[in-house]
Amino acid sequence: MKIKSLTARPILDSRGQWTVEATITLKNGVRATASVPQGKSTGASEAVALPAIAVVRNINNIIGPKLRNKEFEDQAALDAFLNELDGTFTKKKLGANAILAASVAFLRATALAKDIPLWRLIRANSGITVSSYGALAHPRLFINVVNGGLHAGNNLDFQEYLIIPKCRTIKESVEVGVAMYRGLGEALAQAKGRGAKNLGDEGGYAPNFKDNLEPFHILRAVAKKLKLTKKVDFGMDAAATDIKKADSKRLRATYEKLIKQYGLIYIEDPFGEEDFLSFAALNMHFGKKVRIAGDDLMTTNVRRMERAHAEGSVNAVIIKPNQIGSVTETLDAVRTARKYGWAVIVSHRSGETNDSFVADFAYGVGADGLKLGAPARGERIAKYNRLLEIEQNGK
Ligand code: PGA
Ligand code: ZN
Repeated sequence: MKIKSLTARPILDSRGQWTVEATITLKNGVRATASVPQGKSTGASEAVALPAIAVVRNINNIIGPKLRNKEFEDQAALDAFLNELDGTFTKKKLGANAILAASVAFLRATALAKDIPLWRLIRANSGITVSSYGALAHPRLFINVVNGGLHAGNNLDFQEYLIIPKCRTIKESVEVGVAMYRGLGEALAQAKGRGAKNLGDEGGYAPNFKDNLEPFHILRAVAKKLKLTKKVDFGMDAAATDIKKADSKRLRATYEKLIKQYGLIYIEDPFGEEDFLSFAALNMHFGKKVRIAGDDLMTTNVRRMERAHAEGSVNAVIIKPNQIGSVTETLDAVRTARKYGWAVIVSHRSGETNDSFVADFAYGVGADGLKLGAPARGERIAKYNRLLEIEQNGK
């Protein structure tokens, strides 16, 4: 894979903020682009994303010229080269967003040059055996239907109320997800007026609620009405680092109530990003039936995953490529999670582009889940449609 050129330009994300799109051209004429999403409730230990303007400059003036006429044996070689060029642990010199854009563009170009689907190349690179999937042969959809916290202007402390269809195919999961999402919209409009259907950052509804539990109360009624109770599980991302005046004791009591009353199977970031111990206590108590996942806690960073493992903090991990900043390191994180026996949930960010890379990545590594927002707004729909395409055509 000999590189002819790598260039970048600024593009907008789904919040109208600048991010970066990189385009790579190989000597053999193959061309591919990749763009990078951006979080809002970011973890403090994420690799450093620089402003788009600096990233575009770094790609056009530093990374691009260094890659010109270079040949790389594989993805790992390219990513190692980029990391060395940056030379810092946090990628603060060139920007994790610059490195990831280059990394994904190269991966995509490689898939095109080899004429294989992107997810298949990811699977080949991952070295992860498909048998580690579990019973379902595709990632379950983690659909964020009610937005709160930093992703909405309402009164919810928790950031994401998730529905997780339990279906044999992606197509059926999407159908169940869409039916629930529409049903919820109608129920909210009826209970709270039409304004209740306005959307938050990830396409979920974002009205005010009586309390942090009410969304699940309504969701359960919607599932019952649509006769989908057996086809959908519930979960949440508390994103607790961003909850004002968070109190771990009170939070813990709320989770107990939610698990008992609504049968939640998944809780992400239940406590602040340094509170490994409260995570561990919750995991110890409920870990057999509930997935306790770390996002800001571990930020797709193997070193933080090691600590969470040593302390018994989680039994699941959120995987976000832009938290660590290269394809190879993201694959390392997945491999580490599998070694620990954790569930793997790949995730988009709240500020997205139309790039559907995470859909290929989730499918490729045989993730247990893909967190992809509500079935609304183009940047979320791009991931749904890509998963459907993979299932339908295998490519
Ligand atoms: P972010 O939120 O993309 O704004 O960081 C997503 C999440 O916390 O899972
Ligand atoms: Zn999260």
